[in-house]
Amino acid sequence: MDLKTIAVIGAGTMGRGIAYAAAVAGYRTILADVAADILEKAMGAIRQSLDEGIARGKVTLEQKGQALNLLSVSRSVEEAAAPADLIIEAAPEDMPLKAGDFPDALARGLKARHCR
Ligand SMILES: NC(=O)c1ccc[n+]([C@@H]2O[C@H](COP(=O)([O-])OP(=O)(O)OC[C@H]3O[C@@H](n4cnc5c(N)ncnc54)[C@H](O)[C@@H]3O)[C@@H](O)[C@H]2O)c1
Repeated sequence: MDLKTIAVIGAGTMGRGIAYAAAVAGYRTILADVAADILEKAMGAIRQSLDEGIARGKVTLEQKGQALNLLSVSRSVEEAAAPADLIIEAAPEDMPLKAGDFPDALARGLKARHCR
């Protein structure tokens, strides 16, 4: 499969780190969370990690620009899932969420992608 776009669901501790790694690796990355303030904090943390990477010589300025261009955020799991080739879920351990809400939203996202 030609993997181009990754959706990361949940922008907390795990999700923001995964989104950072995916974008630096060159994938179009959509970071989704229900909370706008968490998405804002996550983008701030990712920018900080990129700057720290540059200071340590692990990330180039060009990679930082490329990663930020590849990253976008969404408040909707369904919207994030629709264009994704790979979906990584990093949400809280909440059974109704993981067993019901997410599969339903992902199914709607996939349907939107294939029924356009
Ligand atoms: N933090 C760790 O060290 C660690 C290690 C291994 C595994 N995990 C697992 O990873 C998962 C995420 O952990 P975390 O520490 O990043 O949690 P976290 O609480 O830091 O982040 C979870 C995020 O999910 C968001 N969220 C809640 N409901 C949502 C919904 N319906 N749609 C989209 N986003 C939603 C929350 O707003 C929050 O920002 C959990 O299953 C946890 O068990 C965490």
